[in-house]
Amino acid sequence: MARSSASYAIRMNSSAAGGEKGSSSEQKAPPPPPPKGGNGPLLLLALAAAAGGGYYYYTNSPSMGATVKSAARATKEDYQKVYDAIAKKLEDEDEYEDGSYGPLLVRLAWHSSGTYDKSQNNGGSGLGTMRFDKEANYPANLGLDVGKKFLQSIHDQFPWISYGDLYTLGGACAVQELQGPTIHWRPGRVDQPIEATIPDGRLPDGGQGASHVRDVFYRMGFTDREIVALIGAHALGRCHTDRSGFDGPWTFSPTVFTNDFYNLLLNEKWHVRKWNGPKQYQDDTTNSLMMLPADMSMVTDKEFKKYVEMYAKDSDLWFKDFGAAYEKLIELGVKFPENQERWTFKSRNGAQ
Ligand code: HEM
Repeated sequence: MARSSASYAIRMNSSAAGGEKGSSSEQKAPPPPPPKGGNGPLLLLALAAAAGGGYYYYTNSPSMGATVKSAARATKEDYQKVYDAIAKKLEDEDEYEDGSYGPLLVRLAWHSSGTYDKSQNNGGSGLGTMRFDKEANYPANLGLDVGKKFLQSIHDQFPWISYGDLYTLGGACAVQELQGPTIHWRPGRVDQPIEATIPDGRLPDGGQGASHVRDVFYRMGFTDREIVALIGAHALGRCHTDRSGFDGPWTFSPTVFTNDFYNLLLNEKWHVRKWNGPKQYQDDTTNSLMMLPADMSMVTDKEFKKYVEMYAKDSDLWFKDFGAAYEKLIELGVKFPENQERWTFKSRNGAQ
């Protein structure tokens, strides 16, 4: 069952806590050489992985001074260990903001994937290029360096995992640990060099409305229903003036996966906030919650609103649809061998 948030209090500490902006440095160069033309090498590696059978390929990493495994031979158990390390770190490091880095990891995985363009068949999480400051410093990605730093310590522990796999597994893990739906995940992203970075401008602008939102998500191959399902993730986390310019949380329980985003959109009254910042909405009752103009388009647009009403009524249905849409999102542009299995990972914190 999905959780209701009535009993969760929000911990309103500093909105900029932990915002070590610009602290990340360019990370290690990716091991595989870059054949020209899109995501091609993924197929080779994935095929090798599929053909591999159950033994490990060991290689010495001089920089780590330790024996590491090649991602091509890693098993589900190896990825479960990575999952466990992320989940434990989420649990241990609860001083951040409202008590969890989870929302930021959900966003890091989404922004790593949201560069995909279906018609050009490029972009997406498979490139792993979010590991470079170049992409992470795009205006839409500000703040994600904090999430990257969080996951870098996991990469130090498991240096064989690609950054594309790590960032998406981080998102899947965070969804589950914040008590969201089970996310089925599979490995196979092969990090590409910095030249593969997609130019800035493919992610949505919170200040715009329905037609912009559709342009961006249709480009990735999503439907209206999937768009509405995905944006419900705004039940989590908050906006930061020093990142997007917007300010505040969407719900009273920003570290728990609930369908409150939809309920608040429908049942709360919203006014334009009077403040020295970009246009955003504020709830009449407490003046402490926010909606972006893009969020508000979910109820001003009739087609979108249909689904908002559906998910507000039926949290289990939203969990199901969100899980499927998020799985699709984090696989956009990644070429997996046919029939490569998706795995589910045992969560520390009770996934649905
Ligand atoms: C029209 C689509 C979307 C727009 C315009 C949008 C915009 C934004 C903005 C402006 C922020 C605040 C960033 C900051 O200041 O720190 C944000 C945060 C967030 N977004 Fe979205 N977003 C969209 C879709 C999504 C999707 C599809 C997901 C995930 C499935 C998502 C998950 C999140 C989460 C979890 C946060 C909170 C991050 C934190 O607490 O640091 N968003 N989004």
